[in-house]
Amino acid sequence: MKIAYISISVVLSLFLYGCGNSNSSEVDRSLRTLINDHNLTGDPSTGRVIPSVDDPKVELGKKLFFTKSLGGNLDAACVTCHHPNLGGGDNLVLPIGTEAVEPDLLGPGRQHKPSGTDYDAGPTVPRNAPSTYNVVLFDAVMFWDGRVESVTHEAGKNGSGGGIMTPDSNRTADPKAGANLPVAQARFPETSPQEMRGFTFEAGNSNEAVRQHLAARMAGTVDVGSLPKYEWLPEFQKGYQTTETNVSKLITPENIVDAIGEYERSQLFINNPWKAYVEGDTNAISEEAKKGAKLFFTSYENGGANCVLCHSGDVFTDEGFHVLGVPQIGRGKGDGPNGDDDFGRYRVTHDPEDMYRFRTPTLLNVEVTGPWGHSGAYTTLEGMVRHMSDPLNEAIGYDESQLKGELPSTQLIHRDENTYNALLQLAKNRQNGLSEHQDTHLTDEEVDQIVAFLKTLTDPCIKDESCIGQWNIEGNVSDSEDPDGLLLRAVDQTGSYL
Ligand code: HEC
Ligand code: HEC
Repeated sequence: MKIAYISISVVLSLFLYGCGNSNSSEVDRSLRTLINDHNLTGDPSTGRVIPSVDDPKVELGKKLFFTKSLGGNLDAACVTCHHPNLGGGDNLVLPIGTEAVEPDLLGPGRQHKPSGTDYDAGPTVPRNAPSTYNVVLFDAVMFWDGRVESVTHEAGKNGSGGGIMTPDSNRTADPKAGANLPVAQARFPETSPQEMRGFTFEAGNSNEAVRQHLAARMAGTVDVGSLPKYEWLPEFQKGYQTTETNVSKLITPENIVDAIGEYERSQLFINNPWKAYVEGDTNAISEEAKKGAKLFFTSYENGGANCVLCHSGDVFTDEGFHVLGVPQIGRGKGDGPNGDDDFGRYRVTHDPEDMYRFRTPTLLNVEVTGPWGHSGAYTTLEGMVRHMSDPLNEAIGYDESQLKGELPSTQLIHRDENTYNALLQLAKNRQNGLSEHQDTHLTDEEVDQIVAFLKTLTDPCIKDESCIGQWNIEGNVSDSEDPDGLLLRAVDQTGSYL
């Protein structure tokens, strides 16, 4: 009996070895341990209420998200920089909002109008547009510097409950912030001249004046006859399931952003192969991706890349702030001696420890949300991963040709100086125990493995037109519904609808 047992196990192990499966089970075993150690379930949406894409308020929010009616000069919408078919972003290093040559052309080829304000042949907005996908999963902050922030950071609440601080309220709860973080955030793009307001609409007036004017214009109570029209009353009645006919009660700044927030919150894209793997399907991801995952979740002490230090939990972010020294390109936020630097979180808290800190982004769907980093400096995922593992060397060796001419030289002139200051801050933070980040010098093979892992975080819905198309206007709204073309039908540079 004993002999037979040995020979069967020998044959079995030879067979397994032959198939390359003995390694696989080893990496699977380590991954299962790491998954348990990090308390991952695969499902970051547990316990959250996710609006359905065909909820009436979401459908209203979609039209509002796509309408240029919310642009002061009717030439930009939220979707200008956050198209569902462009990874919830704009595929540009840095965005162009108002004053584009062709307002409806999104992505590469979108140009600032030479007659536009502060024209320099480059983008007008100083930070990369993050994705609107999965904003329903954030509980602490919005924006790269977290200037919209829930007071309590309470897990699972999306900012609802304990109050939200905004740029209007200066680090205290903003009484007008609305129901949750996406709603609070949605009150601000309309007030930015570069993003949506333009430079003449309500120039010099308060954010609230801008919002009231936009709502009144959509309600048809101001500027009557001088602007293209869209019939918003029936849309709001449907969206809010009411027969209210008093436009001033229904078409309010609050109801506008509430519906937009609900549309964004319906963009849950988490059904990815990694989730299937965590939930038990060992074959859901490739060998290479498993090796990448192992590096990602293994601590520095145990020889890993320890990405999980900051990209933690099933949402892949601690919603915290860290200095990584991503090359500072673009116009900047007016900081530093030349005015083209960006001090990140410091701009919000004025705490010197927050200099050059930026919020950790989620990595869900990161394959399609490039260019990457707060300045969009990296146009390949490989480049971004290399930077994360070795910021100093990667920033010093940064290759501007990857920008493919999207930025004029005037927006790159102080790149070295500004980036160097951020790297110096990283070095200081390490010395003072304020940064746990360590350099890991990954091999090319390891970088490829991590990239393969990151690609398992892509929800197939966003690559499938019939699925992602539910969040789009094109194909869902007829020209007769919108004769004046106020809903933005986005095209790419070949003229095809997105
Ligand atoms: C001109 C481009 C542009 C337009 C138009 C625009 N955004 Fe953004 N959006 C950005 C940029 C850039 C950021 C990051 C800014 C920052 O962090 O300082 C951002 C950030 C966000 C975020 C935060 C995401 C996160 O991960 O923190 C959300 C949500 C968002 N925008 C939604 C909207 C909505 C809703 C509208 C319309 C009311 C809108 N955006 C209009 C460019 C734009
Ligand atoms: C110390 C915290 C920390 C660690 C460790 C870390 N990251 Fe990051 N990660 C960040 C922050 C913060 C940003 C945004 C930095 C910026 O743009 O200035 C970021 C950005 C990224 C981005 C770009 C995402 C986007 O949407 O633009 C990717 C991809 C990424 N990290 C992957 C990784 C990988 C892979 C590792 C491990 C090799 C890693 N990170 C380690 C904090 C961290």
